[in-house]
Amino acid sequence: MGMPKSVNRPEPLLRVLKATSRSAARPTDAETTAALAHKYRTLRGASLQLVDHLSPEDQCIQSMADSSPIKWHLAHTTWFFETLVLKAHLPGYRDFDPRFGYLFNSYYEALGSRHARPQRGMLTRPSLAEVNAYREHVDRAAHSMLDRGSLSSEVNWLIELGLNHEQQHQELMLTDIKHAFWLNPLRPAVRMPGCGRSEASKAPTSPMTWQRSLGGVRQIGHHGNAFAFDNETPRHAVLLQPFSLASRLVTNAEYVDFIRDGGYRDPRWWLSDGWGCVQSQGWTAPLYWEVVDEGRVGGRASAPGGRIDDYRIFTLDGMRDPDPDQAVTHLSYYEASAFASWAGARLPTEFEWEAAAESWSGVEPICADAWQWTRSSYDPYPGYKPWAGLAGEYNGKFMVGQQVLRGGSFATPSGHLRITYRNFFPPGARWQFSGLRLARDA
Ligand SMILES: [Fe+2]
Repeated sequence: MGMPKSVNRPEPLLRVLKATSRSAARPTDAETTAALAHKYRTLRGASLQLVDHLSPEDQCIQSMADSSPIKWHLAHTTWFFETLVLKAHLPGYRDFDPRFGYLFNSYYEALGSRHARPQRGMLTRPSLAEVNAYREHVDRAAHSMLDRGSLSSEVNWLIELGLNHEQQHQELMLTDIKHAFWLNPLRPAVRMPGCGRSEASKAPTSPMTWQRSLGGVRQIGHHGNAFAFDNETPRHAVLLQPFSLASRLVTNAEYVDFIRDGGYRDPRWWLSDGWGCVQSQGWTAPLYWEVVDEGRVGGRASAPGGRIDDYRIFTLDGMRDPDPDQAVTHLSYYEASAFASWAGARLPTEFEWEAAAESWSGVEPICADAWQWTRSSYDPYPGYKPWAGLAGEYNGKFMVGQQVLRGGSFATPSGHLRITYRNFFPPGARWQFSGLRLARDA
């Protein structure tokens, strides 16, 4: 059974994903530094391009404790380079402002106390202009290091980590500002026409097929010399029972079938905690779905609809009619799980997902337009050791109470993903571009 042809996966991402599947000879430190110098300029510039059409007011707002202002993201990613790379490894480096460590440290306990996360939107000072000057100050120092020619493997690795960190925040900037704009009754578009990839890009319709896997002992996790986060290691053996994985993600039209069938009113499909969220938070559809109400411009209605035409969806491009063939997004883990139960299927484990990704002909079909919730809780792999030093706080301490998502979304920067990549969020989180792919026992 052949896989459906490509969804709109951008070419650069494909190239990188294919490249990471090949084993490559380890480059010299000088070669790595030269590559990083180019990558640093490109990625740091990309962060600014992503938000350059947003006003200073847009960039200051924080919509909820889980999200952060754009300005904070821009400063925090800069603080990350300043703290891990420049202050530790560039003799004579002078802080832009010694108070910024308190403001822009996210969660590093080893560095002491910090500004409270839910209060990040209170930081009208420093101004956006000052934050941009902070970025320029740090970039100048980083360029002076990188342009020296050859850095140690340790410093090269820290810069690579900082760039991967910056890419993660690029996606978060989009998900966070989308949530903030959704709370604005004007429902403004985040993205300007012609501004990069669009959330509304159309996926071709393809019938869903089941891709069968025989299971057995499979190797899971990152291997090789290329960068990976510590949570992707060590590579280890996992025993899989035979299973089948859906050839594509669940679509908006299929999700409306679940709603129409009373999915949000029937506790049979829900995990207990999920049913609790349905009750306490009044969920009747994915986040950003609104029932069309001709009488209220921009107003929010609460009655569940039975047809896809009953809905409008808030996207980065503003309010849109839902595309029936597009992957459904902004689901919590609980909603993904309930849909799968209703459909007579289940969510894949992250191990089934990765094993399938390795055996399918190419990674293109499996890293689709949305992150895919898995049944796997975010746990350390056997033998896992957090990185040494400050970076040890990056992943390991969050390994409780969260579910793993695999794949990647249209908003994930090109070149950031691998088939071993583990994203993770609490099961009730809905503001990421999160959808689902069905699995079942074979
Ligand atoms: Fe961060």
